[in-house]
Amino acid sequence: MPAESAPLQDPKPLNSGAVFRRFLPYLWPAGEAGLKSRVIGAFALVICAKAVILLMPFAYKAVIDNMDEADPAVMLAIAMVVAYAGARFGGVVFDNLRNVIFERVGQTAARRLTENVFAHLHRLGLAFHLERKTGGVTKVIERGTKSIDTMLYFLLFNIAPTALELLAVCLIFFFKFGPGLVAVTLGVIALYITFTRLVTLWRTKLRRDMVDLDTTAYSHAVDSLLNFETVKYFNAEDREARRFNRAVTGWANAAVKSENSLALLNIGQSLLTNGMMAGAMGYTVWGWSTGLFTVGDVVLVNTLLMQLFRPLDFLGTVYRTIQQGLIDMEAMFGLLDTPAGIVDAEDAAGLAVARGEVRFEHVRFGYAPDRPILKDFDLIVPPGTKLAIVGPSGAGKSTIARLLFRFYDVTGGRILIDGQDIAAVTQQSLRAAIGIVPQDTVLFNDTIGYNIAYGREDATETEIRAAAKGAAIDRFVKSLPEGYETRSRSPARC
Ligand SMILES: Nc1ncnc2c1ncn2[C@@H]1O[C@H](COP(=O)(O)OP(=O)(O)OP(=O)(O)O)[C@@H](O)[C@H]1O
Ligand SMILES: [Mg+2]
Repeated sequence: MPAESAPLQDPKPLNSGAVFRRFLPYLWPAGEAGLKSRVIGAFALVICAKAVILLMPFAYKAVIDNMDEADPAVMLAIAMVVAYAGARFGGVVFDNLRNVIFERVGQTAARRLTENVFAHLHRLGLAFHLERKTGGVTKVIERGTKSIDTMLYFLLFNIAPTALELLAVCLIFFFKFGPGLVAVTLGVIALYITFTRLVTLWRTKLRRDMVDLDTTAYSHAVDSLLNFETVKYFNAEDREARRFNRAVTGWANAAVKSENSLALLNIGQSLLTNGMMAGAMGYTVWGWSTGLFTVGDVVLVNTLLMQLFRPLDFLGTVYRTIQQGLIDMEAMFGLLDTPAGIVDAEDAAGLAVARGEVRFEHVRFGYAPDRPILKDFDLIVPPGTKLAIVGPSGAGKSTIARLLFRFYDVTGGRILIDGQDIAAVTQQSLRAAIGIVPQDTVLFNDTIGYNIAYGREDATETEIRAAAKGAAIDRFVKSLPEGYETRSRSPARC
């Protein structure tokens, strides 16, 4: 990857601060004492694990120092070997207990976020959904919720404990080996973090491209599968495959670039950590030759640094994961922030229908400002009468029905039901008062009974049968082997 062509700064910087502010309440959920105590418990276990891990190198050093050829202390050395193994085992036990305690917090956070997004999607208005990017939207939700769990995990169990460990190692170095080693350790770690940050910033852009291309490819695939029948009518399988291939090839190219930049990052990080290890061990070996340090001290420095580098090696991955998590969550919060199309007025009351008179007064409306569909449209439907609206395709017949349902707000004039402006009543009460037989009949992937009862959730079996009879389909349904329990297998359109 030619470094000179790569911009270090992301042209559209990620607003990490804002994303963090929205995401942290999920880690510390208000009013949930149980979940909060789990977070505290998990963190206490993190500290225990770090404490035993930091004691381990001392046991190791004691083993080596007690194996002095001139004056061996075998029993003490064996006791220290046991302590060393015990500390290693303790570290694993604490880490796993911590995961057990924390799991519920992560899952609850992810569940809450998905519920919020799903409810919001249903508030989003017809205009958003008619664009039908269902595939893309599902992918954004999937990635966003997955990342919240990962982010919580890494912040609490990787970044925080690594910072603690760094502090402890510096204190040990200071008291045992003097301030020089501390200064070098802190310098190298600062360099390491800066390098990781810069390269990751550049990689964030590559990753962002990859996510966009992935979403496009997925939208294409879902779109063409949803319109399967149409694709067949027009013999367009090859065309669809080519379109999908183009999207996937774009994604693959972006993925290759992203992987190559990862190699650069890993090599740079390894150079820094191994340089530091060589320097620190060289220094202690020199100290041993002058009688300043023991052989055990060389082992102590080596083990402490190896332990510190292990999570640091991982810090590159953690940093990337958190960056990626932030991007994914930004996209999902963006979805949550998409303004709901039509909102109830603050003081909206329920619609009271007494007679059922519908009146359109000087209604103006267009889907786009430059293309009006209804211009000064008037209509009165007296109660108890039937009215048919006839006109060429595209004249605006369905639009009138959509406006009556308030899927869109009119841009001029008003619509009244029994004298009440539909913009001033709640959408829920308005839609509950209107029955509709849609032009496109869609079936949910459930039983026929469920589909008939969809308009009223609490409809009884008898009412479902009466409705079927009214539509003259009861005999047909009864003739099916499974009757009202027959499942519709695919969304059918008439
Ligand atoms: N979601 C939309 N966004 C933009 N324009 C739209 C949208 N829906 C409909 N239109 C346009 O508004 C006009 C009226 O559409 P409408 O669906 O009301 O026609 P219609 O009379 O019901 O036609 P048909 O008999 O084909 O059902 C058409 O020109 C159509 O292209
Ligand atoms: Mg229509």
